[in-house]
Parts: sequence; C-alpha cells; structure tokens
Amino acid sequence: MSMYRNAVWFVKGLQEYTKGGYEAAAKHFSPGDLEVNLNGRSFMVTGANSGIGKTTALEIAKRGGTVHMVCRNKGRAEEAKEHIVDQSKNRDVHIHILDMSSAQQVWEFAQNFQQNHTLHVLINNAGCMVNKRELNEEGMEKNFATNTLGTYILTTALIPELKKVENPRVITVSSGGMLVQKLNMDDLQFEKGTFDGTMAYAQNKRQQVILTERWASQHKEIHFSSMHPGWADTPAVQSSMPDFHAKMKDKLRTVAMGADTVVWLAVSAAAAKQPSGLFFQDRKAVATHLPLAFSRSSPQEEEKLQATLDQLASKFKP
Ligand SMILES: NC(=O)c1ccc[n+]([C@@H]2O[C@H](COP(=O)([O-])OP(=O)(O)OC[C@H]3O[C@@H](n4cnc5c(N)ncnc54)[C@H](OP(=O)(O)O)[C@@H]3O)[C@@H](O)[C@H]2O)c1
Repeated sequence: MSMYRNAVWFVKGLQEYTKGGYEAAAKHFSPGDLEVNLNGRSFMVTGANSGIGKTTALEIAKRGGTVHMVCRNKGRAEEAKEHIVDQSKNRDVHIHILDMSSAQQVWEFAQNFQQNHTLHVLINNAGCMVNKRELNEEGMEKNFATNTLGTYILTTALIPELKKVENPRVITVSSGGMLVQKLNMDDLQFEKGTFDGTMAYAQNKRQQVILTERWASQHKEIHFSSMHPGWADTPAVQSSMPDFHAKMKDKLRTVAMGADTVVWLAVSAAAAKQPSGLFFQDRKAVATHLPLAFSRSSPQEEEKLQATLDQLASKFKP
C-alpha cells in the first residue's frame, strides 16, 4: 500500500506541486484578494527567519500588519527582520526567540506573550525533517517535538487569546507529503522498526491536518486551515532532501509561490468565507486523502491523538 501511495503521490506532485502546477492554478486566482490593509491586526509567524515563513512575514508587513517573528536563532532572526523592515518600511516587526521543539519553552512563551500582546492570526510554519532518530533534552523525538507537539502546545495555549479578537485565524503549514501517511497512533515517536525521516515528517504533517479539523469543530469562533505550499526551493528542501532537490531543482516553485496560499489564508476576506478546518493548496480546499489509499483514520483514533497530546503537553506545563 505504501508503494502505491508514494507512486500516485509523486505523479500528482509533478503535475500540481511544481512551478508549472502553481502557474496553472494561479490563472484562476482573484488578483484583488491580497489587496488588503492589515493595520491594527497582529500576526505571529513561527520559523519567520527563512523560506516560506520569512516571505509570509514580509507580505504581512508590507500590508501594514504587526508581525511577531518566532525564531530559534537570534542572529538569523535579526538578519531576517532587518530585511523585512527594509523592504516593507514597516517597523512594527518583533522578534521572539523560541525553540519550538521544547514543550516547556513553548508553554512559557505563549503565556508571557498573552500578557503583553494581542493576536489575530497564528501561522504555524516552523517545521523540520530530521533524518536520524534523535531525542531532545525533554526526551522527545525531534520531528514529533517540533512539528506536532510544539505546534499543538502553541495553538492550544493561544486559543483563549484568539477568541477575544475579531476574525481570528490559525493557519498550519502542513505538507502534501502527509497524503502518503495514515495516522499511526501506535508509534507517535517512531520507536518501532527502521527510522525513516521522510515518513516521520509526513506522519507529523498528517497529524497537523487532523488536529486542524478537530480544532475547527471544537472552537467555532476561530477560523482554522492547514495547507500545502507545493514543492518550493527553500533551505529545508536543500538540506533535508538533497537528492530530491538536485533532481527537481528546475521544477521547484519559488519561495513566493510556496508562501502565496499561506498569505491568502492569513489575510484575505475570501479565505475567511471558506468553512473552517480544511486543507488548502493554491487557494483551494483539496482532498486530504488520495483515492483508494486507505489512509483514513477513525474518529476514535483522532480523538486519541488529541488526548495523548494533551496528556504529553500537560507534563511540561509550568
Ligand atoms: N519547501 C517546501 O517545498 C515545503 C513543502 C511542504 C511543506 N513545507 C513546510 O513549510 C514550512 C516552512 O519550511 P521552508 O520550506 O520554508 O523551510 P526553511 O526555509 O528551512 O524554514 C523552516 C523554518 O522553521 C524554523 N524551525 C525549524 N525548527 C525550529 C524549531 N525547533 N524552533 C523554531 N523554529 C524552527 C527554521 O529555523 P532555522 O532557520 O533556525 O532552522 C526556519 O525558520 C515547514 O513547516 C515545512 O515542513 C515546505
């Protein structure tokens, strides 16, 4: 089954996830959707110093929004901020240093943030593909800690704050790679069998899509979406998937193409009119399963995912 899913997915990717795929889809975009004034609205972007996160932060700053950049490295964050302020002429850009893989740090950060700032839109963009099974200082597998648990804690902790504002949104940058995975509740931290970083990453990205659907059904006041940026030429793709990058280099999207739907979901009126909880690609809600892939999980398994994350997260709550 996994070979079937991988093959169908790759063919789909060649058609849709490439630069050509973006250009075909963009013919149907409404050009006015991104012409908005974001004055008075506040956006948090995790992983805002590089790739899709940095371009998203810049596009928001250009439209007058307040930008909270959440980054793990001060030097890289400051360099990116300088670029964003320079290009946008918007000085309302702020850096917060946080390692998203540290559950305790994420809790502490979210609690402090709420005391000092308001937030309208959370963009869960930070992500990683670590190709060896490694544990962090809290004993958590690193892909799971960053992509799933960190995202889960940050979102859960900020939900009460988001409920206080007009038109709150949460966008989670998942990946089309999740289509090759069925939720696996038996091995959340990849302790069994041979470790495969690409599959661990895809499993985390599947979990983000399921969590987005659950949050949407539980918190009707907030507009949730997950999305796939396509295959964009970013440092993550170069360093975590060097063979794929070398083979696909000429077909990859620019970073701006990858960020387009993140920006659209975060700022446009059109996006807010879509139902909450969906998975987007090129400004359109798309299926979360490949045909005949048997990748659907039961409501019980999905409930268990959330309950297990809740339990794990509460261990690190200050
Ligand atoms: N590019 C693609 O084709 C593609 C396809 C599907 C999905 N995505 C998703 O798009 C998102 C953005 O990735 P990208 O392609 O733009 O790659 P990127 O340029 O490498 O950006 C990833 C960002 O996440 C940050 N990050 C990683 N681990 C972190 C941690 N523990 N704490 C805080 N920040 C952390 C990175 O910080 P550092 O600079 O410090 O490493 C960087 O700012 C990811 O979620 C990725 O999975 C990308």
